[in-house]
Amino acid sequence: MTLTAPHRTDLTGDAAMDDKVPAIPQNAPQSVITWVNDVAKLTKPANIHWCDGSAQEYDALTRTMIETGTLLRLNPEHRPYSFLARSDPKDVARVEARTFICSEDPDDAGPTNNWRDPKEMRTTLTELFDGSMRGRTMYVIPFSMGPLGSPLAKLGVQVTDSPYVVASMAIMTRMGAKALDLIGPKTEWVPAVHSVGAPLQDGDEDVPWPSNDTKYISHFPESREIWSFGSAYGGNALLAKKSFALRIASVIARDEGWLAEHMLILKVTNPRGRVFHVAAAFPSACGKTNLAMMRPSIPGWKVETIGDDIAWLRPGPDGRLRAINPEAGFFGVAPGTSPATNATAVETIWGNTIFTNVALRDDGDVWWEGLTDKAPDHLTDWQGNDWTPASGTPAAHPNSRFTVSARQAPSIADTWDDPNGVVLDAIIFGGRRAHNVPLVVEARDWEHGVFMGANISSERTAAAEGKVGELRRDPFAMMPFCGYNMADHWSHWLAMGESLRKNAVVPRIFQVNWFRKGDDGRFLWPGFAENSRVLAWILDRVDGQVGATDTPIGLVPRDGGIDRAGIDVTDEDWAELFAIDRDAWLDELAGTEEFLRTFGDRLPAALPNQLQDIRRRLQDT
Ligand code: OXD
Ligand code: MN
Repeated sequence: MTLTAPHRTDLTGDAAMDDKVPAIPQNAPQSVITWVNDVAKLTKPANIHWCDGSAQEYDALTRTMIETGTLLRLNPEHRPYSFLARSDPKDVARVEARTFICSEDPDDAGPTNNWRDPKEMRTTLTELFDGSMRGRTMYVIPFSMGPLGSPLAKLGVQVTDSPYVVASMAIMTRMGAKALDLIGPKTEWVPAVHSVGAPLQDGDEDVPWPSNDTKYISHFPESREIWSFGSAYGGNALLAKKSFALRIASVIARDEGWLAEHMLILKVTNPRGRVFHVAAAFPSACGKTNLAMMRPSIPGWKVETIGDDIAWLRPGPDGRLRAINPEAGFFGVAPGTSPATNATAVETIWGNTIFTNVALRDDGDVWWEGLTDKAPDHLTDWQGNDWTPASGTPAAHPNSRFTVSARQAPSIADTWDDPNGVVLDAIIFGGRRAHNVPLVVEARDWEHGVFMGANISSERTAAAEGKVGELRRDPFAMMPFCGYNMADHWSHWLAMGESLRKNAVVPRIFQVNWFRKGDDGRFLWPGFAENSRVLAWILDRVDGQVGATDTPIGLVPRDGGIDRAGIDVTDEDWAELFAIDRDAWLDELAGTEEFLRTFGDRLPAALPNQLQDIRRRLQDT
C-alpha cells in the first residue's frame, strides 16, 4: 500500500502544538514518508507530527499533557522541570504474556518465547490498528540507538499516538531531526508502530492515561518490525528499549556477528589508576541501577556509569570486544531508591525528570517506599487517593519509575557516549539465589562462562507465583528479551567466543550472587556499596594481581582475597558464602539438565559437556 502523494498533516486540531507542528521535514527520506503514510492510512489519526527533538517541542508536549491531565507539574522549588504521570491501574508494567515473537518457524522463537504465526498476527493487528488513532495526533519519532553516527549504533522510527511516550523517548533515546538526517536512501532502520488503542470519536472526552485492555507487543524478527497495541507503559510502549534494543537487535546482532544484551556497563578505575570496563547481566529487579551507579566503599577505587540496562557488544577493529549503551536515559524503578541504597540516583533525579506512579507529597514533591525511613504523614498515592501510613497499601506502585537523562548522573563516565564504545575486560552474570551459588566465582574459560550465563536464575519468593524455593530461570537475564531461540543465542555466544579468541584477549567471565542467605534466613553479604569489594577482586584477577582456588564449580577467592575490614561478615558467614554443598549442587545440575533438554536439538553440545564436567568434578570430591 503506497500512497502516491505524501499525506499532508492537518494542522488545525492540536491546540497547544498547532503553531509549531512541523510539516514533513525536508530531510525525510522517501522510505520513511511512505511507511508513515501507510500507517496513517490504517490508523487514521487526526494529525501527524514529525518530532524534531527540540527543547521547544518537549516543552510544548509537556504543556499539552498538563492540560489533558496526563502530567502533573511537580513543585519547581523541590523538583524543577519535573512531572508526575499516573497510569491506568491496569497498565503498570511489562506484559510478558502478551509479548510475541512472530517468526516464520516457531522453532526460531524457541520454547521460552510466546510464538505467533506472523500471517495470523498481521491479520489480528490490522484489525486492531484500523482507526486506532482516530481523534489523536500520530507522532513520528526518528531515533538512534547509540551515539549519532556511531559504527555501533542503529536507527529506528517509532510512530505513536501517546505524547507521554514521545516525551519519554526524548529522554531515553537520541531522537528527532538529527536521527532522521542519518537515514539515507539505503540506510536500514527499524519501523516500530505503537498505539494506545483508544480512538476518540467526535465528542468523546479523553482520559489522562488512554490504553486498551487488549494488549499485543509483537515482534517480527524476519522483517525486523515492532507493532505494539494497548499499553503506554515502559517496555510495552517505549519501543526503542526492550523491543528494539533487545528483541529485534538480538536478531540483527546474531546475523551481523555481535551481541545485544540485558547488561549494565561500568567504567572502573583501580587504586593504581588502571581503567577497566565491565558489563553485567542481572534479571529484572536485582538492583542493576544500584550497581551501575555504585559508590565503592573501599578506598582508591572509582566506579563510573556507562549504562544501567542494555549493552551492545561488538568486536572493534583491534578484535577486542567493545560495548556501547544504546540508550540515552534511565528508566529506573523508584521504590527502594534512597540516599543509602543509591545516592547517585537520588542526585540524578533532582529535576528534568518524569516520574510515573510514584506518590505525591503535600508540598508538590515525590515520595516512594524506601526513599526515607519514615513515610510522610499524608500523601496522594499513585492512584490519586489520599494516603496515610495507616492506609495499609503502597503509596507508590512497586513498579513506579523515574525517567531521566543519563547525562544528568553525577557518576556518568566521560566515555559513556564514545561512538567507538569501550573495550570490555570482564562480563558478570548475577542472579538472586538464597542457596548454592557463592558470592563470586570465576569461569574457567569462555565456554564455562556461557554455561554460567545460561544458568542465571532466581529462587521464587513468597511474593512470586509458583513454589517457594523453586528456581525461576532467566538465562543471560534475557528470558523475556531474546528475539530468537535461546539455544541459538547460546550457540551465538559460543561462536563469538571462538572468533574473539582468534584475534584478541577475550573478556573474563564471572558469576556473582549478592543474595545468599544463611541457615537462619539472614543475608550473608551486606551488598550495595560493599559489592565494590567483589568488583575489586574480579578486576584484580583480570589484572593478574590475585590468585584463586579451584573448585568443582569454578575459581573462587583465596582466604583474604576479598577485603573484609570494616564489614560485619564473620568467618562463619564467609565460609557459608562460599560453601559448595555437593548434594545440593548435584540436584541443581539435574534440574539444569532437564531445562537444557527442553531445547532439543538446538542445544549446543558445549553446554551439556560443561554440565558433565562439573558433575564429574563434584563426584570426585
Ligand atoms: C526493566 C526490566 O525495566 O528489566 O529494565 O524489566
Ligand atoms: Mn531491564
